[in-house]
Amino acid sequence: MRDDLGLTGTKLACGEGHCGACTVQLDGVPTLSCITLVHTVGDREVTTIEGLHDHPLIHAFVRTDAVQCGFCTPGQIVSAAALVKANAAPTHDEIQHAMSGNLCRCGTYPKIEEAISTWRD
Ligand code: FES
Ligand code: FES
Repeated sequence: MRDDLGLTGTKLACGEGHCGACTVQLDGVPTLSCITLVHTVGDREVTTIEGLHDHPLIHAFVRTDAVQCGFCTPGQIVSAAALVKANAAPTHDEIQHAMSGNLCRCGTYPKIEEAISTWRD
């Protein structure tokens, strides 16, 4: 995606399925692209952060200062977008569970949760 398609919003960090920086959606399901072989994708729709550029979560992350270095942010937003599509008003526990695969080295977890809790504001 990054090298051949120029879609550099998706980040590569651990490359081993541990951090969530590379998260994309396959048919709306958050998926770790670094450990997903292309031939297993089939005809499922791939949504990267570029495909979510108009999503209100983008503004919510900025408004709540949920972006520090920003490296984890595309993956965070891709996962959060799938969550709020299925559940527009997730609880604290639901946010924690849905976002548990996305690590943030800057530790902005409270702000990330605030952004997701207030994404429609
Ligand atoms: S780059 Fe860390 S899970 Fe894919
Ligand atoms: S904002 Fe820096 S890793 Fe999350």
